Amino acid sequence: MNRRKFLTNSLAAAGSAIIPPAALASTTFPPESLPQSSPPQIEAARFPNDFLWGMATASYQVEGAWNLDGKDESIWDRYAHGVGHIKGGDTGDTACDHYHLFKQDIALLKRLNQKSYRFSISWPRIQPTGTGAPNQKGLDHYKRVMDSVLEAGIRPFCTLYHWDLPQALEDRGGWPNRDLAGYFADYAAILANELGDRITVWAPFNMPWAFTYYGYGIGIHPPNRANFGDFLKALHTVSLAQGESFRAIKAASSKATVGSAYSMAPGYPKTNSEADIAATARYHAMNNTFFLHAALKGEYPNAFVGEPPYDRMGVKPGDDKIMRAPLDWVGFHYYTRRIISDAGGAKSSSASHFGTEIEVDSGDTNGRDPYTRFHAVMPSEGPLTHAGLEVYPRGIYDLVMQISREFNHPAIEITECGCCYMDTPYEKAGGNIPDLRRTQFFAGILSELARAIHDGAKVRAFHAWSLMDNFEWTDGYSQRYGLTWVDFRDQKRIVKDSGLWYSNLAATNKLQLPA
Ligand code: FCB
Repeated sequence: MNRRKFLTNSLAAAGSAIIPPAALASTTFPPESLPQSSPPQIEAARFPNDFLWGMATASYQVEGAWNLDGKDESIWDRYAHGVGHIKGGDTGDTACDHYHLFKQDIALLKRLNQKSYRFSISWPRIQPTGTGAPNQKGLDHYKRVMDSVLEAGIRPFCTLYHWDLPQALEDRGGWPNRDLAGYFADYAAILANELGDRITVWAPFNMPWAFTYYGYGIGIHPPNRANFGDFLKALHTVSLAQGESFRAIKAASSKATVGSAYSMAPGYPKTNSEADIAATARYHAMNNTFFLHAALKGEYPNAFVGEPPYDRMGVKPGDDKIMRAPLDWVGFHYYTRRIISDAGGAKSSSASHFGTEIEVDSGDTNGRDPYTRFHAVMPSEGPLTHAGLEVYPRGIYDLVMQISREFNHPAIEITECGCCYMDTPYEKAGGNIPDLRRTQFFAGILSELARAIHDGAKVRAFHAWSLMDNFEWTDGYSQRYGLTWVDFRDQKRIVKDSGLWYSNLAATNKLQLPA
């Protein structure tokens, strides 16, 4: 995804209590120097013996087979088939053809010593129009995939929704339509009934703040709507759906554990002014912990200046009980950080505030946010990846410790972490792919994660994004996040040097200096 999109992207929502300014200030300001991991810190890093090393993918990004075996159109099919939406005119029609090649891809996971595979199920494969009887061919497909994963001795981690909404449900109003909470719970019940013997680890939504905001708030993802009122309604429907699906899964499968796959990026106040510190707390509540707070506490965190817009969100009496879901564990992604400042009453301008995630434009509620009033910007003090994201290893430590403190030390899974670099097979390296920057990225971040575990955080899993290069949303195939290189002309896979390094880590639980 491009820089602008990612800026909005890897921020998730939710949160509860405002973090006391003192706590924020102590970990965040001033950002004197960029803390990077030193070689001794990397070499000393150790992970528990039972740590779950994993890799992640998502249905639309890897499966292809967009109209096979009864699957109907998703909003991403519709959007990618439209002109002018995706770089290069790319689509996910074939992607990595994982639908047909899953056996070899799972064998690869095993060869790379992986213990956990995070994947998502395509809703329109299971219920082609989003409601009603399940499509047997779709269910059979995922049963075969799960059998391969289990035979490989790998734990399946299932995300129910990684953005590919059945188009038919968008035609009925999409996520702003409260009815979708019930439809989603029905879908969850089908999955848990049919696959609950094979899958025990479930996360309802990938990055709920991001897909509601991008899709309905600013319209840079399908369904391409830029309407702040729709975004507010979508937030609430998804929160209700999270609670409803939690109960549906638990009712259908006694073995099920349910958690999350939120996007989070630690926020650091731009200055130590009270206004910036308060804006950082609002940012954290909106983008990082909105849905987590809703689930664990049955209420929304205070992400807003003044009265929360509960009417516009469509909140009804009794919804607190529906939203509430005592998650068994907490999962979130880490890619980069944000610097936050108070937006005051300033008029917004996307040109002059490049990187602002939710902008102020009072008087214009169409796609602009008069409620949260912060600017979130991605700094560039550290090195940038090819997606333009700043590499900031220290951020994962701060984030994991902050979530641990705020939510009473839950079991944590890192559901995604990765970087885009465009290295290709190199003849002089025997056709291998020397992608040292990716290895350095993981070494730095993982040494900081080891430090968080050492300091008491209960982190039990880490999923690298991604098993292989894939369809990177509106950036199509122009961004490569894989630990395995994919030739999209013939579906050849070549493990990158970073993938070999990561497989060694998965076998030893010890970091090695990147070489
Ligand atoms: C995350 C998404 C994932 C992928 C990575 C690069 O935000 O969950 O699908 O696009 O970013």
